[in-house]
Amino acid sequence: MKYSELRTPSYIVQEGALVKNLEILKRVREEAGVKILLAEKAFSMYRVYPLIAGYLDGTTASGICETKLAHEEFVRPGTREGAGQGRGCPENHVFEPAYKPEEMRELCEICTHIYFNSLAQLELHRPVWEPYQKAGKIRIALRINPEFSTQEGHAIYDPCAPGSRLGIRKSRLPERLPEGVTGLHFHTLCEQGAEPLIETFRSIEKSFPEYLRQIRWINMGGGHHITRADYDVPRLIAFLREVKERWGLDIWLEPGEAVALNAGTLITKVLDIVETEDMPTLILDASAACHMPDVLEMPYTPPLTGALEARSPAEAAAPETRGQWVRLASRTCLAGDVIGLYRLPEVPETGDILTFGDMAIYSMVKNNTFNGMLLPDIVLEHDSQSEDRYEIVKQFGYRDFKERLS
Ligand SMILES: Cc1ncc(COP(=O)(O)O)c(C=O)c1O
Repeated sequence: MKYSELRTPSYIVQEGALVKNLEILKRVREEAGVKILLAEKAFSMYRVYPLIAGYLDGTTASGICETKLAHEEFVRPGTREGAGQGRGCPENHVFEPAYKPEEMRELCEICTHIYFNSLAQLELHRPVWEPYQKAGKIRIALRINPEFSTQEGHAIYDPCAPGSRLGIRKSRLPERLPEGVTGLHFHTLCEQGAEPLIETFRSIEKSFPEYLRQIRWINMGGGHHITRADYDVPRLIAFLREVKERWGLDIWLEPGEAVALNAGTLITKVLDIVETEDMPTLILDASAACHMPDVLEMPYTPPLTGALEARSPAEAAAPETRGQWVRLASRTCLAGDVIGLYRLPEVPETGDILTFGDMAIYSMVKNNTFNGMLLPDIVLEHDSQSEDRYEIVKQFGYRDFKERLS
């Protein structure tokens, strides 16, 4: 397919950008001697799982569906089976704040590592997981809450925020870790650099030292923006090596964003232009609410190719001498379905195509069909110079909307 043949809206994932990220993660794996997993919650475009499997150790899931997807699709190139128990995915980890009893057996069948969020959950499911653990088929860990916040402003993304249900606090842990537990897990970061990770681990060393001595492995969660241009990769590598040596632990990281950061765009067409009191408001065939929910939930203003400046919908756009401010909005009924205010060299025309950046992550995994909006096509842009480098991986239509209703 040529670019001109693509429909809008479409998510276009760039294979070349993905590989660049994966090369960085592979370097960390190799130089630090740690394992790195794809957090599927951020990016589950399974068409590229075999590509990712060539660089990373496995996946981490938020529940049974993601574990099954990894089991079926996260297969190393040239193999149909991974290392563990004839499973597809070499390492299939899962963490859920609470598991349903009817799902535990299947999880034990296809997972290699299971993380529990409470002692009650660990014990409730012990009769199912323990035989697998004793047979060496799965490893069991507890998620801890280090009660050490390193982020401000985004309480919704801070597992250490007051009242958090995520992770066991130090005061709730018994002196000796329960039998069968060989690892610990913490996930506290969100889009952060190496320093907050190091500070978090220093605090864990102070408050949980007796537990670090009892375990054999530790998972440091996600939120590491390792592939961002300003991330201090050598600092991360040095820190991970030091932890391995000091505590004698095997280490896992499970980034989501970093795997597909800046590796995708969302193309959308201008359907109409409405003159509002302050600036032209463009109605697009993409929606923040349906196709990029994090724009409203996080909230953030996504980058737009060619824009001179961007502001959130809540901010007033100051008059500028150069360019023209426009409001980019959607064709849903939701008044607040506004993506952002952008200053452009000139006002686009109806029929023009606009391109939002960084749309591979937390986009297609979170989208929805509110108002009967169709889901964007999923396109893979191969790493080639050919005009025909666009592969349509999936298209959605009315059936997909109807199938989810009854
Ligand atoms: C337990 C856990 N691991 C990994 C991740 C992935 O985080 P990110 O995509 O920010 O790297 C998350 C994100 O919420 C998470 O909750």
